[in-house]
Amino acid sequence: MPRQQALQPFSHDHHQALVMCLRLERALQRAEARPLWAWVRESFTELELHFIEEELQLLPALLAVGEQALVSQLVVEHARLRLLVRQGDLSAAQQFATLLRAHVRFEERQVFPRIEELVQQGRLHWQAGQLCQGAAPLAETGSAF
Ligand SMILES: [Fe+2]
Ligand SMILES: [Fe+2]
Repeated sequence: MPRQQALQPFSHDHHQALVMCLRLERALQRAEARPLWAWVRESFTELELHFIEEELQLLPALLAVGEQALVSQLVVEHARLRLLVRQGDLSAAQQFATLLRAHVRFEERQVFPRIEELVQQGRLHWQAGQLCQGAAPLAETGSAF
Protein backbone atom coordinates (compact mmCIF):
# COMPACT_ATOMS: atom_id res chain seq x y z
CA MET A 1 0.00 0.00 0.00
CA PRO A 2 1.49 3.40 -0.89
CA ARG A 3 2.18 5.62 2.10
CA GLN A 4 -0.54 8.18 2.83
CA GLN A 5 0.37 11.56 1.40
CA ALA A 6 0.40 13.29 4.78
CA LEU A 7 2.99 10.81 6.06
CA GLN A 8 5.32 11.09 3.08
CA PRO A 9 7.36 14.08 4.39
CA PHE A 10 8.06 12.08 7.56
CA SER A 11 9.15 9.07 5.49
CA HIS A 12 11.40 11.30 3.41
CA ASP A 13 13.09 12.55 6.61
CA HIS A 14 13.41 8.95 7.77
CA HIS A 15 15.35 8.06 4.65
CA GLN A 16 17.77 10.93 5.34
CA ALA A 17 18.08 9.81 8.97
CA LEU A 18 18.98 6.25 7.93
CA VAL A 19 21.65 7.58 5.57
CA MET A 20 23.08 9.61 8.46
CA CYS A 21 23.05 6.52 10.75
CA LEU A 22 24.95 4.54 8.14
CA ARG A 23 27.56 7.26 7.67
CA LEU A 24 27.99 7.65 11.42
CA GLU A 25 28.35 3.90 12.01
CA ARG A 26 30.90 3.55 9.20
CA ALA A 27 32.89 6.46 10.62
CA LEU A 28 32.75 4.87 14.07
CA GLN A 29 34.11 1.59 12.68
CA ARG A 30 37.04 3.49 11.13
CA ALA A 31 37.56 5.50 14.35
CA GLU A 32 36.96 8.68 12.35
CA ALA A 33 33.59 9.63 13.79
CA ARG A 34 34.47 12.62 15.93
CA PRO A 35 33.93 15.35 13.25
CA LEU A 36 30.79 13.69 11.90
CA TRP A 37 29.33 13.27 15.40
CA ALA A 38 30.06 16.94 16.06
CA TRP A 39 28.24 17.83 12.81
CA VAL A 40 25.26 15.58 13.71
CA ARG A 41 25.00 17.28 17.09
CA GLU A 42 25.25 20.77 15.58
CA SER A 43 22.65 20.05 12.90
CA PHE A 44 20.25 18.27 15.25
CA THR A 45 17.76 21.15 14.86
CA GLU A 46 16.38 19.53 11.68
CA LEU A 47 15.74 16.24 13.41
CA GLU A 48 14.36 18.07 16.43
CA LEU A 49 11.81 19.77 14.16
CA HIS A 50 10.85 16.36 12.77
CA PHE A 51 10.33 15.06 16.32
CA ILE A 52 8.21 18.09 17.25
CA GLU A 53 6.07 17.74 14.13
CA GLU A 54 5.44 14.07 14.90
CA GLU A 55 4.59 14.89 18.50
CA LEU A 56 2.20 17.72 17.56
CA GLN A 57 0.63 16.35 14.36
CA LEU A 58 0.29 12.65 15.19
CA LEU A 59 0.32 11.94 18.91
CA PRO A 60 -2.81 13.71 20.24
CA ALA A 61 -5.07 11.80 17.83
CA LEU A 62 -3.29 8.49 18.47
CA LEU A 63 -3.76 9.00 22.20
CA ALA A 64 -7.42 9.89 21.68
CA VAL A 65 -8.05 6.51 20.03
CA GLY A 66 -6.21 4.55 22.74
CA GLU A 67 -2.82 3.93 21.14
CA GLN A 68 -0.91 4.65 24.37
CA ALA A 69 1.73 1.96 23.82
CA LEU A 70 2.78 3.38 20.44
CA VAL A 71 2.75 6.94 21.78
CA SER A 72 4.79 6.02 24.89
CA GLN A 73 7.49 4.26 22.89
CA LEU A 74 7.71 7.13 20.42
CA VAL A 75 7.99 9.78 23.14
CA VAL A 76 10.53 7.81 25.20
CA GLU A 77 12.74 7.22 22.15
CA HIS A 78 12.62 10.89 21.17
CA ALA A 79 13.68 11.78 24.72
CA ARG A 80 16.57 9.26 24.65
CA LEU A 81 17.78 10.55 21.28
CA ARG A 82 17.65 14.15 22.53
CA LEU A 83 19.67 13.14 25.58
CA LEU A 84 22.31 11.29 23.55
CA VAL A 85 22.82 14.32 21.30
CA ARG A 86 23.64 16.42 24.38
CA GLN A 87 26.47 14.02 25.23
CA GLY A 88 29.71 14.61 23.39
CA ASP A 89 31.38 11.23 23.73
CA LEU A 90 31.57 8.63 20.97
CA SER A 91 29.74 5.93 22.93
CA ALA A 92 26.74 8.26 22.74
CA ALA A 93 27.27 8.48 18.97
CA GLN A 94 27.07 4.69 18.64
CA GLN A 95 23.96 4.52 20.83
CA PHE A 96 22.41 7.40 18.88
CA ALA A 97 22.92 5.69 15.51
CA THR A 98 21.58 2.37 16.79
CA LEU A 99 18.52 3.90 18.44
CA LEU A 100 17.72 6.26 15.58
CA ARG A 101 17.72 3.38 13.09
CA ALA A 102 15.47 1.30 15.38
CA HIS A 103 13.22 4.31 15.95
CA VAL A 104 12.77 4.95 12.21
CA ARG A 105 11.93 1.27 11.67
CA PHE A 106 9.44 1.37 14.56
CA GLU A 107 7.65 4.34 13.01
CA GLU A 108 7.73 3.00 9.45
CA ARG A 109 6.73 -0.56 10.37
CA GLN A 110 4.37 -0.04 13.30
CA VAL A 111 3.23 3.56 13.84
CA PHE A 112 2.55 4.61 10.25
CA PRO A 113 0.79 1.37 9.21
CA ARG A 114 -1.40 1.68 12.32
CA ILE A 115 -2.25 5.29 11.42
CA GLU A 116 -3.10 4.22 7.86
CA GLU A 117 -5.30 1.44 9.22
CA LEU A 118 -7.12 3.81 11.59
CA VAL A 119 -7.68 6.32 8.78
CA GLN A 120 -9.09 3.56 6.56
CA GLN A 121 -11.41 2.52 9.39
CA GLY A 122 -12.64 6.12 9.72
CA ARG A 123 -11.39 6.43 13.31
CA LEU A 124 -8.83 9.08 12.31
CA HIS A 125 -8.63 11.58 9.46
CA TRP A 126 -6.26 14.22 8.15
CA GLN A 127 -7.19 17.88 8.33
CA ALA A 128 -4.70 20.52 7.17
CA GLY A 129 -1.79 18.16 7.78
CA GLN A 130 -2.98 17.32 11.27
CA LEU A 131 -4.14 13.86 12.30
CA CYS A 132 -7.56 14.18 13.93
CA GLN A 133 -9.93 11.85 15.70
CA GLY A 134 -13.03 10.65 13.83
CA ALA A 135 -14.02 10.27 10.21
CA ALA A 136 -13.22 12.98 7.67
CA PRO A 137 -16.01 15.48 6.99
CA LEU A 138 -17.87 14.58 3.77
CA ALA A 139 -16.40 17.54 1.89
CA GLU A 140 -12.86 16.16 2.47
CA THR A 141 -13.60 12.58 1.46
CA GLY A 142 -14.68 13.63 -2.04
CA SER A 143 -17.91 11.72 -1.59
CA ALA A 144 -20.09 14.81 -1.35
CA PHE A 145 -22.45 15.52 -4.24
FE1 LIG B 1 10.06 9.93 15.75
FE1 LIG C 1 10.09 10.01 12.58
